[in-house]
This record gives sequence, C-alpha cells and structure tokens, in this order.
Amino acid sequence: MNFASDNTAPASPEILAALAAANQGAMPSYGADPITARVRARLNELFGTELLAHPVGTGTAANALALATLVHPYGAVICAEEAHIATDECGAPEFFMGGAKLISLPNDDGKLLPGQIDAVMARARDGGVHHVLPEAVSITQATEWGTVYTPDEIAAIGAACRAHGLRLHMDGARFANAMVHLGCTPAALSWQAGVDVLSFGATKNGALAAEAVLFFDPAMAEGFERRRKRGGHLWSKLRYVSAQFDAYLVDDLWLRNAGHANRLAARLADGLGALGTVRMVQTVQANELFVAMPASLITALHDAGAHFYEWIAVPGIDLPVVRLVTAHSTTADEVDKFLSVAAAASRRLAA
Ligand SMILES: Cc1ncc(COP(=O)(O)O)c(C=O)c1O
Repeated sequence: MNFASDNTAPASPEILAALAAANQGAMPSYGADPITARVRARLNELFGTELLAHPVGTGTAANALALATLVHPYGAVICAEEAHIATDECGAPEFFMGGAKLISLPNDDGKLLPGQIDAVMARARDGGVHHVLPEAVSITQATEWGTVYTPDEIAAIGAACRAHGLRLHMDGARFANAMVHLGCTPAALSWQAGVDVLSFGATKNGALAAEAVLFFDPAMAEGFERRRKRGGHLWSKLRYVSAQFDAYLVDDLWLRNAGHANRLAARLADGLGALGTVRMVQTVQANELFVAMPASLITALHDAGAHFYEWIAVPGIDLPVVRLVTAHSTTADEVDKFLSVAAAASRRLAA
C-alpha cells in the first residue's frame, strides 16, 4: 500500500526496454544522437508545432534552467505559494536565475488567478527601480494540491501575462495526469493557451529520470543550452534520457500510465468518501488526494503497512491532512486493502 509519492514508483518495463535497446554501440554525445532527434520530431508532432526540446535529468533542473532563461537576475517569477519551485527545490530557481525572486501568492486550490498577477504588476510598477521586476509567471499542472487548470483558466493567465509583458512557464511534472483528466490535446493545454515554456515531466509517470524543457517560441530559448551545460545538467550520454521519452511517447504509454494512476486515485477517493469519517480537502482530479482524517485512522493505516505522508494543516479543518499519491504501478488491490483498513478503523471510531 504505497501512496507516498509517484517518485517511489518503479520505471515502466517499456522504458527499461528502450534503455536496453539504446545501449547498442557508439552514438554521438550531448544530444546529437538519432534518438534525441527522433524524440524532438515526435514532440513537434504531438504538440502540433515547431518547438525546441531540451531533455534534462530532473524536474528541478528543468524548472530552474527554464526560469533562468526567462528572467534577469533583478527579475522575479510569480507563482502559487505551494509551487514546487518555491517550496521543494532548495532555492535552485533563485540560484540559477542569479538572484531573481519568487513572488509566491496564496490561493485555495493551488491555482493562481489572473487578478493576482494584475495586482502584483500594479505594485511592481509603483515601486520603480526599488522593486524586482516580475518577468514570468510559473504555474504547475497538475497543481501541488492535485487540482487541474482547464485550458480556459490557463488562457486567462496567459492573457494576463501578455498584457503585462510576462512569460508563462508551466511546471508539467504531472502534465500527463492533467491532460488525461481533461481529455484535451497537449497543444490545448500548453502553447494554445499561452504557455511559452513547459517543463514536461516523465519521471513521475513511468520514466527512470527524464524531463524535457519545451520552448514553444524557440527565440525564448536563447542561452538555455549554455546554462544547462554550466549548471552541470547536460548529459554527455543524452541518448539515455531521450530513449526514455522515445518509449514514453510511443503507443500512448504516457497517457495509459497517467490514466491508470488517475483511475486508481478516483477509486481511492470514492471509497474514502463513502466512509463518512474523512473529508477530501481538494477535488480529486489527477493522481493526488489530500484527505483530512482522524488521527486514529492514520495510525491504523500506518500500522497496517500503508505508506503515505502527513501534510500541512489546512486552516479551518481541525483534522490532520494526509497526501495519497497513486502511480502507473499502483494496483487496485493496494487501493482496496487501504480502503478496508480505513473502513475497519472507521467502524471502531463509530463504536
Ligand atoms: C510539481 C513538481 N514539480 C517538479 C518536480 C520535480 O522534482 P525533481 O527535481 O525531484 O525531479 C516535482 C517532484 O516532486 C513536483 O512534484
């Protein structure tokens, strides 16, 4: 019963097979190999536009290097309070940006609102040279609260960005989960809605270590490659990162994996919702659940061997909150066992 994180999931067999297949003979290094070229062509096709794709090994590198390319050292990036870039990357974005700030804003469900961007920009203009200059907005899809921005919501943020001369970055660590939830195209969820740069994640969804920074306007990518090299994130044997994407994007593996994770998250949410003892803190839309539950349930689940993390307290909710994450490798048995332990603990609570 592992619901700790989709980072704890194994890699898909198809990805490992692709690595073995790529492990044949010599190939040009640093991304000049035919596998990287094939992945770039496939991404163009999938996103329906000529984009510039740069594979990297971690999501933190993808986000930090992407933002550093968009923002000056005296600049700033507007993001949500819980954004991974603001809370879980040990200052890597600020480090790679050379000192630019993150302006992180409160929200109810992980989503930024266009009005918040307008308000920050009004203040930034008033402060003149004394204030950092916001140059980009970063949104996370799916959000750190497991919610999903619709294409319309992204388009509204994109319009606010354009109105203020800001660039729009998307941390797409769980882009596939969001896309499957919405049933839309990759284009609708990215460049068509105004996203300029996407950190396109695969690691959480079946890859071993594969992320790609996608620039929808290649002119914005200026300097990215040197930053990546300077930051130590240009893999000499890049074919092994690309090989993972090669398999990830074939036969819809990425969508099948995300669909599976989302379905099991919904099964878990339905089962927990029926208990009457717990409360969903956010609407379950992708593969993460945030659940307020009595401490006795948490103890019973941990005692039964379930792995999951307690999360930050949520104002107005007097129960502890836990995060449950499903992955491509989660089984229905794991979900059902978790639900039966939770049901037994709920009955004890009611007795
Ligand atoms: C929203 C989000 N962005 C990015 C990342 C990527 O982080 P890492 O550098 O660990 O690959 C994560 C991983 O937990 C994440 O949850």
